Amino acid sequence: MQIFTPEEKERLPVHVAIIMDGNGRWARSHGKPRLFGHRNGVENVRSVVNTAREVGVPFMTLYAFSQENQNRPMDEKSGLMRLLEEFLKRELKTMQKDGIRLRAIGDLDGLPRFAKKIVEDSIEKTKDNDQWNLTLALNYGSRQEILQAVKACSQNQNQNHENLEWDDFAQYLETKDLPDPDLIIRTSGEFRLSNFLLVQAAYAEIFVSPLHWPDFGRKAFLDALRDFTKRERRYGKTSEQLTSF
Ligand code: IPE
Ligand code: IPE
Ligand code: MG
Repeated sequence: MQIFTPEEKERLPVHVAIIMDGNGRWARSHGKPRLFGHRNGVENVRSVVNTAREVGVPFMTLYAFSQENQNRPMDEKSGLMRLLEEFLKRELKTMQKDGIRLRAIGDLDGLPRFAKKIVEDSIEKTKDNDQWNLTLALNYGSRQEILQAVKACSQNQNQNHENLEWDDFAQYLETKDLPDPDLIIRTSGEFRLSNFLLVQAAYAEIFVSPLHWPDFGRKAFLDALRDFTKRERRYGKTSEQLTSF
């Protein structure tokens, strides 16, 4: 049986961004330490990525570590960085085989040196892949990104500042090579963006799942996509304008 009808397929998002929340609560509900939740969260990434590839959603961005997450205990942060290293080491072969291009947004200088290195190496090694697009938000903060963009734009003498349009300014954002997210999924029932893609999300559809990230598997992801196909994106227009031909 096909997963989506041809009509639904046409309405699938191009770019899905996910706030992978709830690893800690998931671990606690299993009576385990937080890192056990993060480990299972990483396992779930594979399943959701494979589902997105299978149904033809070409861009995915995963919020893996926020700048504010730097305020977490040291042992949790280093555990997360080791998991990131493990993940990239293990997935490189698959990314090459499947033509997956890796990108990162966020301040990589704020990562431990070993983590920064493997992220940069993986980006470099996959830069010619063009079958699918995975972006990791690492030490990412949207406000910090915007501030950097404002500084870079204002310091660029060749930029026409008087007639600056949004598309011009967007070239200074770390997401300049990515389409805006069509769908932002947040797991674990929290209705907030937590400094993620604030301006890129201007017209994103938002889907909040009550499931913790390690439990948000293939089926839950497909349900979120199906829900998205039913949304009416009006971009300020009226419903009648959209349905009249
Ligand atoms: C999301 O899960 C992963 C990261 C932020 C790195 P959390 O670690 O935030 O899990 P909860 O929200 O405490 O349950
Ligand atoms: C957002 O989750 C960051 C990531 C998922 C990486 P948090 O758990 O850090 O968000 P808050 O603190 O609950 O808003
Ligand atoms: Mg959280």
